[in-house]
Amino acid sequence: MASFDSADTVMQRIASLGRISDDQNCLTRTYGSSAMTRANEQVALWMKEAGMATRHDAIGNLIGHYPAAGADAKILLLGSHLDTVRNAGKFDGPLGVLVAIAAVQHFNNRNVRFPFAIEVIGFADEEGTRFQSAYLGSKAVAGQFKNCDLERTDAAGITLSDAISTFGGDPCKLDSARMDPARLLGYFEVHIEQGPVLEKNDLSVGVVIAIAGQTRARLTFQGVAGHAGTVPMALRHDALCATAEFILGAEAEARSVDGLVATVGQITTLPGASNVIPAEVALSLDVRHAEDSKRAGACSNLRSLAKQIAERRGVTVNWELIQESLSVTCDSGFVAKLQKIVARHQAKSISLASGAGHDAVPLSKITRVGMLFVRCKGGISHHPDESATVEDVRVAIAVLTDFIEQVTN
Ligand code: HGY
Ligand code: MN
Ligand code: MN
Repeated sequence: MASFDSADTVMQRIASLGRISDDQNCLTRTYGSSAMTRANEQVALWMKEAGMATRHDAIGNLIGHYPAAGADAKILLLGSHLDTVRNAGKFDGPLGVLVAIAAVQHFNNRNVRFPFAIEVIGFADEEGTRFQSAYLGSKAVAGQFKNCDLERTDAAGITLSDAISTFGGDPCKLDSARMDPARLLGYFEVHIEQGPVLEKNDLSVGVVIAIAGQTRARLTFQGVAGHAGTVPMALRHDALCATAEFILGAEAEARSVDGLVATVGQITTLPGASNVIPAEVALSLDVRHAEDSKRAGACSNLRSLAKQIAERRGVTVNWELIQESLSVTCDSGFVAKLQKIVARHQAKSISLASGAGHDAVPLSKITRVGMLFVRCKGGISHHPDESATVEDVRVAIAVLTDFIEQVTN
């Protein structure tokens, strides 16, 4: 069992990382920002205190290396992401990095080395807040990064390629960030549940068995601008009314399929004047389901719906697929091991599927993945009220240290 103070230390560090933000009024820390640089500097200090050597890879992921007992050892990857959504909570991402550092610190304090090395990764961009494409950091590590993404631009028109260079990375050497699957023992991530199940069962932690697949798309409805006072309703081609009908249709589609979720989180209208009929509306669409066939079916229905609405209203619609990630099953060996360990630290061990995406998704392409969820208050996440307790964090650290002691080739 880790020492008492490690959970307290994690909670203090969560609070201090929570104050490193691009926005002085709330927690927002996006890829390549000055807040991300400051967060990486701070976390690197904590990694060094825990006996790790630190480095940044070509996209700006922060990596702490805890050496193995011997040479030519494999690597067990731990970690999570250090970027956040807008107006974020403090735990989504950082908890996984800080619990991993606490576990390494536990072993370093006792001069314990393993037949494998441990690398703790603070991924530079999981949420996709700045460039809309999620998992940029873990995709680079998994060799899944698509070079076409380098031309993505943020709200200020800065390309991802330039942002990588400004962040100290090298957009021309992203291949060097790829880790060799043959050298990896696996990837293990601790993350808040971001849902209500553990709280409902009064449990500190739960074992993740699968991660839902997700489709992220961008739709653009193109209508005709006009004078709000003079164009009769019957003659309008209002892009925003078409969008509104589509959004309610997406909600109805999601309500009609068990386990399906569909979300429109971003919307921009042009020209955006109160006395002009909207001519162009761009919106994000996020569709998820644990079964890929159900998610694909829903997306096909929504594409047809968008087309029907556009035809009926005399507007056009464009559907751009931003990214699609298939659902992921966690390694059965990791799941079995975790369930036994968890059952020793709390009344029972339950398994959960994750509706949220995680860096384990791209990593699953190159190695075994496992995840441990930590109870969060009210299941609230992607919100400043996101929180977990020191007691539950203490259980998570204890489970992780036991897992590390039991992981084998
Ligand atoms: O969107 C998600 O599921 C995660 O928070 N990136
Ligand atoms: Mn997360
Ligand atoms: Mn998140």
